[in-house]
Amino acid sequence: MPSFTQFLLPFLLAHLGASAPLAIEDSATKTYTLSGELYGPTSLRGYDADYPLATGDTHPATVEFAAHQEADDPEGIFLDFTNVTNPQPIRGTRGGTIASNNDISLQKSHPDTFAPPVTDRGAVAQAEWPMGLSHTKLGLDKGGWSRQQNVKVLPIATEMAGVDMRLEKGAYRELHWHTAGEWALVLNGSARIQSMNTEGQTFIDDVTQGDVWFFPSGIPHSIQGLSDGVEFLLVFDDGSFSEDSTFLVSETFARNPKEVLAKNFQVPVDAFDNIPAGELFIFPGTEAPEDIQKQNVTGPAGVIPNVDSYSFHWSQQDPIIAPGGTVKIIDSTVFPIAENFAAALVTIHPGAMREVHWHPDSDEWSFFLGGHARITIYAAENNARTFDYGPGDVGYIPKSMSHYIENIGTEDVTVLEVLQAKKFTDISLGQWLALTPPQVVKDTLNLSDETIGQLSKEKPLVVNGPVPPATVADN
Ligand SMILES: *[C@@H]1O[C@H](CO)[C@@H](O)[C@H](O)[C@H]1NC(C)=O
Ligand SMILES: *[C@@H]1O[C@H](CO)[C@@H](O)[C@H](O)[C@H]1NC(C)=O
Ligand SMILES: *[C@@H]1O[C@H](CO)[C@@H](O)[C@H](O)[C@H]1NC(C)=O
Ligand SMILES: *[C@@H]1O[C@H](CO)[C@@H](O)[C@H](O)[C@H]1NC(C)=O
Repeated sequence: MPSFTQFLLPFLLAHLGASAPLAIEDSATKTYTLSGELYGPTSLRGYDADYPLATGDTHPATVEFAAHQEADDPEGIFLDFTNVTNPQPIRGTRGGTIASNNDISLQKSHPDTFAPPVTDRGAVAQAEWPMGLSHTKLGLDKGGWSRQQNVKVLPIATEMAGVDMRLEKGAYRELHWHTAGEWALVLNGSARIQSMNTEGQTFIDDVTQGDVWFFPSGIPHSIQGLSDGVEFLLVFDDGSFSEDSTFLVSETFARNPKEVLAKNFQVPVDAFDNIPAGELFIFPGTEAPEDIQKQNVTGPAGVIPNVDSYSFHWSQQDPIIAPGGTVKIIDSTVFPIAENFAAALVTIHPGAMREVHWHPDSDEWSFFLGGHARITIYAAENNARTFDYGPGDVGYIPKSMSHYIENIGTEDVTVLEVLQAKKFTDISLGQWLALTPPQVVKDTLNLSDETIGQLSKEKPLVVNGPVPPATVADN
């Protein structure tokens, strides 16, 4: 074998030298030659009295403002660019016009990043990842797909990672296990899930939109799409989890000597003549029988006792009604197997807001199921940054950083908040100040007695607010 330096390097140098002609063949089979002028002449360097300076107005013909954009308002009101053709990064007297090509739709959907409220300051790590930007792993034979968010795309999210997965009718996420615990919310459709624990006790159940399951680390399981298939969200208790590094039953067979398989299962070697050559991951299968009893396999150890159930029919739980929306909570109090997962499913009506709060026990991994919202993360050291979220977006808020979730659209916001905690806990800014001696609050914040008197001694969770008016300035 010729070595790189002995042969290939001189070859490459000879053929890629700046003055060497480069033969390029295009798809229409025409061969032509570049003369090698990849660089400009050195006379272009530095000052030149004859240089033809391009002049001209770089300002857009018209500058169209969203309502409230021209006021330097400390209220930091949301700027709605929906009907603005070419939004500009301006807030009151700050900012200026933009003079290069850019992705206008991205700026319209992220106005708090593009023209931030004056209350934003310093640096807070990126806290939004749209699943729509995740690379999609396509399953076999139109069986489905999956896409994931982990630290590789959202480095701040160290404690949890997420996967959005679709299985068509009858398709499987193959029998597998992994090193992280898997908490799931069914987003649409229904699925049959099954598993076995270390005692040989078995579990099988059907879950539908709004239901939750949990498989502890290392516990093998499979998922199959029922009648119209299923889409679900998986949350893992490890920010660096990857769907690409799960343990698959197909690979367990493909990666062990057949002699070993034969001995292990006490069958002839040719019993394994037709096993899959490698991973199946997501693939179509025989539709599950409607009657779950037909697939209820039990051994001498029986079934997994109800207290350790891997499923919780969360869809059947009525939420509590808050002033501006609804809230329901699940944690180890009612679903003990998921001992370190606590979650809230919150709806926030237009104009309303999940109150300013923080989680003392855990980072928060959140997922937006519907609507449009913004969040300001206050991160101590005088840093704060506001992010905008839409359907399919992942949000991440580190432990103890204060935040709110304000509905800035015209539809309900539905958001899932997931914590790594035994119990769903938060501290409400309003409740804390209401339960602090008023003199202390007054001396600190210089609020009026009237304002202090308005503070709620109970957590409102979701506060009401005015439905945003059409906010584009009519000028
Ligand atoms: C479920 O999927 C159907 C078909 O795509 C869609 O019409 C419906 O809105 C989806 N439901 C939810 C809750 O996303
Ligand atoms: C499976 O069978 C066992 C009894 O052998 C029963 O206790 C359990 O409820 C059954 N599971 C389902 C999902 O019907
Ligand atoms: C508190 O607010 C009042 C106005 O209501 C102002 O006169 C006073 O200077 C403020 N006190 C401090 C310490 O900022
Ligand atoms: C944008 O225009 C549509 C159609 O005229 C209107 O219904 C909507 O309220 C406008 N949105 C804003 C934010 O002005």
